[in-house]
Formats: sequence, structure tokens, C-alpha cells
Amino acid sequence: MLNIIILAAGLGKRMQSDLPKVLHSIAGQPMLSHVLDAARALSPDRVIVVVGHGADRVRQAYAGQDLEFVLQQPQQGTGHAVMQALPELLEGDADDTCLVLYGDVPLVQADTLRALLRARGNGLALLTETLDDPSGYGRIVRDDQGRVARIVEHKDASPAEQAITEVNTGILAAPTADLRRWLGRIDNRNAQGEYYLTDIVGLAVQDGVSVAHAQPAAHWETLGVNSRVQQAQLERIWQGEQARRLLEQGVTLADPARFDLRGVLSCGRDVFIDVGCVFEGTVHLADGVRIGPHCVIRDARIGAGTVLDAYTHIEGAQVADAARIGPYARLRPGADIGPEAHVGNFVELKKTRLGRGSKANHLAYLGDAVIGDRVNIGAGTITCNYDGVNKFQTVIEDDAFIGSDTQLVAPVRVGHGATLGAGTTLTRDAPPDELTLSRARQQSVPGWKRPVRKG
Ligand code: UD1
Ligand code: CA
Repeated sequence: MLNIIILAAGLGKRMQSDLPKVLHSIAGQPMLSHVLDAARALSPDRVIVVVGHGADRVRQAYAGQDLEFVLQQPQQGTGHAVMQALPELLEGDADDTCLVLYGDVPLVQADTLRALLRARGNGLALLTETLDDPSGYGRIVRDDQGRVARIVEHKDASPAEQAITEVNTGILAAPTADLRRWLGRIDNRNAQGEYYLTDIVGLAVQDGVSVAHAQPAAHWETLGVNSRVQQAQLERIWQGEQARRLLEQGVTLADPARFDLRGVLSCGRDVFIDVGCVFEGTVHLADGVRIGPHCVIRDARIGAGTVLDAYTHIEGAQVADAARIGPYARLRPGADIGPEAHVGNFVELKKTRLGRGSKANHLAYLGDAVIGDRVNIGAGTITCNYDGVNKFQTVIEDDAFIGSDTQLVAPVRVGHGATLGAGTTLTRDAPPDELTLSRARQQSVPGWKRPVRKG
């Protein structure tokens, strides 16, 4: 049995926020979600989150997920926090293990946790690090044979102990039965008047239980967030790491320092992404896609060889192969762009299918429409899809030509090969292959003179 206990009861005073600390985001996801991702990658039997400050909001944020919460009220230290979770755990088999993680240490990676669990053997295992500046951390005190003897918290440490640079990251794994026994024996007679989880290390040594340790694969994995400054630093570290992973997969980033991913991005071969783009939700870019600068793309699939020019905004849409979108295009939910189609500047599509090779190159709103292949949508075309109460559909069949500044008052249909004259307000269906136009006849007044100034 593997139980994962995530401590998330702390106040987070330095965040200066009404939001519980663990709900503050890194890369668009609450910090606690990052920890849960790492936890779940280990296929644990139980995940128990210890909540305290803002407990209800944390519970709400994860309602319906395969998770348990226990309340720690008041917060009397990390040992006290773990104690609140233990009654939830039935005594399992001999290798029943608890892994303790922290809701405000969001970047720990599953591989590091696996290494810690492997190092544990039958005993206790600590995730430790050696730091140039160890101040604030609990120090790993070793005996004269170099074996771990105990952990001393910074505030309780002697000057000699404060000189130790090997520190406790806080993350540890222990046999559940031992953990229960040790936590029953710790007290709060220390500088902070708290029940320290770290006191179990000395007790393990007394009981002759082995104390192993492992190091995180990357230093940033164990950085915690106590302030907005640290949150911003971790955000940059994590964005840099995501960028590095994409580069290693063969994606070209014009500048890895100007790339933001708040979700999951999968890419085919030879994808190019220019500076300042933001990807959110789940985005797939197929082979050879090129993304211009400053695009925002959320929950989208972009087909092979398609080019998105600068400042394109896409949400909940898909684009087929070899299309050309932007600059300054907006694809809203339900936009479905066919192969080799063009969507140009200041064109907005919502719940609209644009067929193969069709073009809407300038200044248009196309909503609730089904547009066939090889259709030309002139500049200034608008589907009037909404009467203030209901929405209606526009259908434009293959090879139609919609003149500039046309309004299509839905529901309405433009037949195959039809042409609409510029400025048409279409209120009835346009027959196939004919020219339809609604326009006051142009006239000129012969002999007309401009007025002249009197006096
Ligand atoms: C803890 C460790 C220290 C380690 C450091 C790494 C202890 C006694 N000390 O110290 O050895 O070097 O982390 O950052 O464990 N929490 C609760 N309930 C509580 C107290 C804390 O849920 O009653 C949570 C906090 O929200 C936080 C985490 O536990 O996520 C750590 O608590 P914190 O008070 O920051 O511990 P440190 O003093 O940093
Ligand atoms: Ca801390």
C-alpha cells in the first residue's frame, strides 16, 4: 500500500491574498494540482490532503476527484499535520508506506519520488539537498560514522549545527506503522512550540530503523512558495523547463525565455513557435506548423503545415492542414477551418465550418455558419446570426462568392456557385449560380452644382 499525505494547511500569509496558498497557480494550474499530478503518477492507493486555512475553498476546488481531505485545526506543526491523516489509514500490510509531500512545493517530479521510495528499503527515507545557503532549513545531523542521527530545525540549531549545509527538503517516506508509533512519541518542546515531523528521524535511529536519503534530480523540484516573488521565480523555472523539453523533442522556439505553456502542448516534427505565444489547455500542433509572434492558443488542434500569423487568438477550435490564419484572426469555440483555407486579419469565426480552400481574408464575423469549399467571403461580411433571443444558421454552399459588406440575415442559404453583390443584405435564400443583390440603384444627377457660399 502506498499512501500519499500532502500537507496544505498553512496560511501563506506572505502571499497577501484571500486565496489559500495552494490554490495559487504555476503555469495556469493551482500548485496543489502539480503536486497531485506527481503523486498520481506513482499510482498510490490513497491520497490524503491535510487542509486548514481556507479548507473549504481547497475542498471545493477538488470536489469530485479521487482524493480525501482531513482538517488540521489549529496548525501545530508538520508532525501534528501528518497525525491528522493517520487515523484515516487502516493498518495495512508490513510494507504499507506513507509518502509526505507539500502543497506549496509544486514542482517535485515523479521520478525523484520514485528514487526516494526505492532508497527507502524497509526503513525511513529523506529527500535531502546540499545548499550553499542552508538558512531556514532543518539540518541533517550525522554521527561520527557519517550516519544520519537526527534533524535539527534552524531555530533550534547550535552554531555548529547551523554550519551544516545538508538540509531536509521536508519530503520523506516512512513505513506507516512506524510513523504512527513515532508521531505518538514526539512533543512540542522546541523553539517554535510545534510538533515537528522531523523529530521522527531521531526516533527511527533509536529504534534501529534504517534512515536512507535521496536527492532530487533537479534543485528546483524542492523549492517552496511562500511569497509572490517565489511564485514568480518558480513560474519562470517551470516555463524554462517546459521550453527545454519541447526543444529536446525537436520544436524550434524563437526564444525559450519568451514562451508560456499553461497546459499540455504536443507537437509534431519541425514545428516553429515565435516569441510571446501563450498555450493553454490542450493544444496539438501537427508537423511543420508555424506560429507567429504573440499568438494565444487554447484547446486547439492545428493541422500539418498550417501557418498562424502574428496575434492570432484561438480557443476551442480546429484547423486542418496547410491553412493560413491571421495576422489578427480570432477563432472562437466551434470554429473548424478546412484544409488550405485562409482566415485573415480581423476575421472572427464562432461555431462555423469553413471548407477546403475557402477564404475570409479581411474584417468579417462568421457565426453559426456552414461554409462549403472554395467559397470567397468578401471584406466586411457579417452573419446576422442572433435576433437578441435565438441564434440561427447560415449555410453557404461550395464555390459561392460573397461580395464585400454583405449581411447574411440567418436563417438563410446561399446556393452552390451563387454570387452576392457587394453591400447585399440577404434576407431570403440566394439561388445557385445566380447573382443576387439588394442595393438601391445608383443614380447621377446631371447638371448638379455644388452650393456656393453666399455674400
Ligand atoms: C519544514 C521542515 C524543515 C525543512 C523545511 C523545508 C519541519 C518541522 N521542518 O520547515 O526541516 O527544511 O520544511 O521547506 O517539518 N504545514 C501544515 N500544518 C502545520 C504546519 C505546516 O500543513 O501545522 C504545512 C505548511 O503549509 C507547509 C509545510 O507544511 O506547506 C511546511 O511547513 P513550514 O512551517 O513552512 O515548515 P518549515 O518551517 O519550512
Ligand atoms: Ca517552509
